Amino acid sequence: MTSYKELGLVNTREMFAKAVAGGYAIPAFNFNTLEQMQAIVQAAVETKSPVIMQVSKGARNYANGTILRYMAQGAVEYAKELGCENPQIVLHLDHGDSFELCKECIDNGFSSVMFDGSSLPYEENIRITKQVVEYAHAHDVTVEAELGVLAGVEDEVQAEESHYTKPEEVVDFSTRSGCDSLAISIGTSHGAYKFTPEQCTRDPKTGKLVPPPLAFDILHEIEKKLPGFPNVLHGSSSVPQDEVDTINAHGGKLPDAVGIPEEQLREASKSAVCKINIDSDIRLAMTAAIRKHFDEKPGDFDPRQYLKPARENMKKMYIHKIVEVLGSNDKL
Ligand code: G3H
Ligand code: 13P
Ligand code: ZN
Repeated sequence: MTSYKELGLVNTREMFAKAVAGGYAIPAFNFNTLEQMQAIVQAAVETKSPVIMQVSKGARNYANGTILRYMAQGAVEYAKELGCENPQIVLHLDHGDSFELCKECIDNGFSSVMFDGSSLPYEENIRITKQVVEYAHAHDVTVEAELGVLAGVEDEVQAEESHYTKPEEVVDFSTRSGCDSLAISIGTSHGAYKFTPEQCTRDPKTGKLVPPPLAFDILHEIEKKLPGFPNVLHGSSSVPQDEVDTINAHGGKLPDAVGIPEEQLREASKSAVCKINIDSDIRLAMTAAIRKHFDEKPGDFDPRQYLKPARENMKKMYIHKIVEVLGSNDKL
């Protein structure tokens, strides 16, 4: 058993309370590689931002859960080395799909876990979330739950209203499950293809897809039912078109990739949305830099030659998100 406290990590309780009161959101960045971890820490330290470093099941399969845990511990030490006296770094399990996985992560030094029961029947979602909460709280670990189904082309679910979080359920769900924060569905979805071309309109000037707006009416209803309760947005990449264009200009093929406009995320950050999950945009930033590098320098084969510009481009993206979208800078 390793407590996250021994590793210098923190849970989300205090940072969410501050974010809700201050009208900003905490960035939650997925990480799988050393370069992502380094760039997250550099960006968080330079902007004086708290940060959630999150690990998906896919990340654990790719990089090994133990290694990622030690990388998070390394992140705390690296932040101190970069001059941050009191780093506010959370190690979070993203989309945990069972009590056993959540428990394993808590036992191995995670300071926050998500139990994603969004695909389960309502009562089953409450039952397992509550089980996770009881174990987590006994170790001062915070728990994110999910209510509502994120629409998306990946899982062939259409963005119908019936999949949005039902505001009339949030009080019952959060009270009975005891969760610390709630991931809600208001029109975001995972990946770089969040909407089909049929769900969008097209900008006549650029030819680019314009996605349907987020359901702010539902967000406001949820806020009215649960004033001050921390809400979470998954699937919040914006799919920056300059990165997509760079990828496509250097041999990639990402036609009609589209995300959530940053203005809408900025708007959501000012309300009770206090955690915003971003993964795909970082993947795009990394891929764009690497594709460009190989195109321009086909003779390079030392990974450091192309991972360095990839890391720099990711860092730029992390800083942009923190300062221009979430507003979590200067909060340490
Ligand atoms: O929720 C999805 C995240 O982007 C993680 O994706 O499961 O491919 O690591 P992944
Ligand atoms: P994106 O795919 O939009 O970056 O969402 C990531 C996410 O929600 C991770 O849980
Ligand atoms: Zn997610």
